[in-house]
Amino acid sequence: MHVAGKVISAMKTIVCQEPNRLIQTETTKPVPGAGEVLLRVARVGICGTDMHAYRGNQPFFVYPRILGHELSGIVEALGAGVDGIEVGDQAALIPYVACGECAACRKGKSNCCTSISVLGVHADGGMREWFVVPAKQLLVVNDLSLDQAAALEPLAIGAHAVRRSGLQQGDTAVVIGGGPIGLGVMAFAKSRGARVIAMDIQDEKLAFCSSWAGVDETINALNAPLEKLESLTNGDLADVVFDATGSVRSMEGAFQYASHGGSVVYVGLVKADISFHDPDFHKKELTLLGSRNATMEDFAAVVDAVRSGAVEPTGYITHRCRFDELVDRFESWLPPEAGVVKAMVQFE
Ligand SMILES: NC(=O)c1ccc[n+]([C@@H]2O[C@H](COP(=O)([O-])OP(=O)(O)OC[C@H]3O[C@@H](n4cnc5c(N)ncnc54)[C@H](O)[C@@H]3O)[C@@H](O)[C@H]2O)c1
Ligand SMILES: [Zn+2]
Ligand SMILES: [Zn+2]
Repeated sequence: MHVAGKVISAMKTIVCQEPNRLIQTETTKPVPGAGEVLLRVARVGICGTDMHAYRGNQPFFVYPRILGHELSGIVEALGAGVDGIEVGDQAALIPYVACGECAACRKGKSNCCTSISVLGVHADGGMREWFVVPAKQLLVVNDLSLDQAAALEPLAIGAHAVRRSGLQQGDTAVVIGGGPIGLGVMAFAKSRGARVIAMDIQDEKLAFCSSWAGVDETINALNAPLEKLESLTNGDLADVVFDATGSVRSMEGAFQYASHGGSVVYVGLVKADISFHDPDFHKKELTLLGSRNATMEDFAAVVDAVRSGAVEPTGYITHRCRFDELVDRFESWLPPEAGVVKAMVQFE
């Protein structure tokens, strides 16, 4: 690459060197090999995973690490043998690299591949000017905005959980946790035609669930939630309860909100044991599901929903900065009082 006669071989890169330390440095601009694509990174979304990695409480996280798994960019060069993508295309990253051969992959469940590697988490991600990725990890979305494209991944988590639950039009869904993950679940549950009831312990979060995801009702989980749910549902409770809190207490309490014959989906995850009283599970003949990551099918559903306007991700971007400002800005986004739903880093 030449600019004004000079070869560009270095690029700005932000590295999480160790817990609580991000540095901006220079690394070598990569060259795409066979089957790979060179992406000029345009947007990187920041999520809870990045914040936990920064704080040092992301289990099994290895430092130093280049963060960044929610991103979009412009294709700048192609390695040998890449089809279906052209230079100049706008693409979103699908950060989950699956083996394609394990028991899960053979069942089409690449989202829970036995050796899954998430770019930006288990391997280096895109917090740098250029990023080389296997072509199969990119989704070409020329008709979306760069912001929309970078927000597909967190929304796909919600779309996957909703698809997995089998939620039907007219069902009642309770979604516990109004962070970015829960918001995605709410948006996709609404787009399926369900009646959606958001639950959180913070009223500001609940207000955002109403304004952005258009939920039908909200319940503060600190204030007699079961009674409130009973009165809203004529005593029937929820066909599906999604827990997106990352709270053991909430996950253990989630069964009480499900109807007899209903389902509970754990979208949020904890590094802890979860226990329940078996009669609470059996008497309702509950179905308990885990939900992890997302598949290509879920990404396609998100793209359709964004294209049709059923889901508009840009409305949940609350904070922004330029790449050069991130190292100084990052800390200020961490405290809950900062009110960050989705922060977006932009490169130009
Ligand atoms: N399934 C996946 O693949 C996947 C992917 C990404 C993140 N996650 C997980 O999803 C969870 C949510 O992520 P996030 O980024 O939205 O988190 P977040 O912390 O931004 O949001 C969690 C929300 O839950 C609320 N909450 C906490 N305790 C509660 C309780 N007892 N009752 C009701 N509400 C409560 C909080 O007020 C907050 O609004 C985390 O556990 C995260 O690790 C799962
Ligand atoms: Zn994320
Ligand atoms: Zn696999």
